[in-house]
Amino acid sequence: MKELQVKDKTFAISIPEAKIQEQVRRVAAEICRDYAGEEPLFLPVLNGAFMFAADLLREVTLPCEISFIKLASYQGTQSTGEIREVIGLGKDITGRHVIIVEDIIDSGLTMAHMIETLQLQNPASVAVCSCLVKPDALKVQVPINYCCMEIPNDFIVGYGLDYDGFGRNTRDIYTLIK
Ligand code: IMP
Ligand code: MG
Repeated sequence: MKELQVKDKTFAISIPEAKIQEQVRRVAAEICRDYAGEEPLFLPVLNGAFMFAADLLREVTLPCEISFIKLASYQGTQSTGEIREVIGLGKDITGRHVIIVEDIIDSGLTMAHMIETLQLQNPASVAVCSCLVKPDALKVQVPINYCCMEIPNDFIVGYGLDYDGFGRNTRDIYTLIK
């Protein structure tokens, strides 16, 4: 079994590159079919989605725009704790068909917040395309329009996903073993 050491943790390969690419191609074809005749705006979420977005969008043959966004987390002064802000959306999305491209949906809180923020700007539609989803970890309901793979509620790295900033630069996906 192929293993990967990231800092103090050991991971074992769980989704090989070929499986990922097969699913990426399937999802890209679904998007091309669903948005035929449209010019969607893809919003990949940094940092995690960079690799998935690069692979997905190479398979999308629609005329489209691509603009990366990022979520900034900061501590508010009030006791509500962490507030997140979408940064880098330097585009007018009014009347646009927006497709958010994410690496993984875990609790769903990030995505719920993102959708809410984007909806305020009157897009024609907002869809979610996530490489991975952990269905057992979802805490809020989020519409997931496109998903490459559902995975168990385990911690993973690779293919853009990190452990403490490291482990993003692999072709395969690895699951924490120890
Ligand atoms: P959510 O708000 O709980 O859905 O969290 C989503 C974000 O948490 C993702 O965009 C990832 O950056 C991060 N994340 C969730 N699960 C994992 C994991 O297994 N490995 C690495 N990052 C993860
Ligand atoms: Mg992310």
